[in-house]
Amino acid sequence: MVFIKAAALLSLLSAVSAAPAAEVEARGTIPNSAFGFLALRSASPIHFSSLNANGGKIWLGKPTSTYCPVAKNLCPKGKDTSFWINNQYWTASMNAIVPGGQQLYIDPTGALSYTQAHSAFIPSGSITKGFQVKKEANDLYYLSHCEGGFLACPPNKSGTGPWKVFIDVKGKLKDKDVPSKSKNDCLGFNVAGNPVKDAVWQYA
Ligand SMILES: *[C@@H]1O[C@H](CO)[C@@H](O)[C@H](O)[C@H]1NC(C)=O
Repeated sequence: MVFIKAAALLSLLSAVSAAPAAEVEARGTIPNSAFGFLALRSASPIHFSSLNANGGKIWLGKPTSTYCPVAKNLCPKGKDTSFWINNQYWTASMNAIVPGGQQLYIDPTGALSYTQAHSAFIPSGSITKGFQVKKEANDLYYLSHCEGGFLACPPNKSGTGPWKVFIDVKGKLKDKDVPSKSKNDCLGFNVAGNPVKDAVWQYA
């Protein structure tokens, strides 16, 4: 199932103590690291769902989709979705080693998106800056975007996933742009996580 298992969640939430010391610095400064992230919205079906890359978009309740074109023993060990946050430039990319990388951006509809491998194409009107990670007192790293909060939008009104992740840019996400055609169906959530070590080759 696509929801992170309880044991995996506990290990993710406590992984900060297991992260290499050199990468984790004093509170208030952010390690140069990739992060795995979970959605936080208590008493909702998305609580503790991991943010997963699939088909160029970020989802809750959909499995991570990766591809590695080389021999298995040469592929990086990562299996789950992780993000590289450049906290100086407020940009972000996928934690993928494919040449050219895979940049994270908000497409013109508000959907959190990433570039395809071997392509730098980003639709005009997209937002590439504004991502930031802050370490909070609970030792978790919170991801935010300066233009608006995270929304998880369901495929329809049935209350089931998978939920497509949007940023509500300036509070102006449009009904027509969400899968169920009603922004009211979407759930706001916070995003928290911890540094992770292993990359993937590319997200597919
Ligand atoms: C709602 O979406 C889910 C997931 O795509 C699908 O399985 C289900 O059949 C849909 N329900 C309705 C009422 O359209």
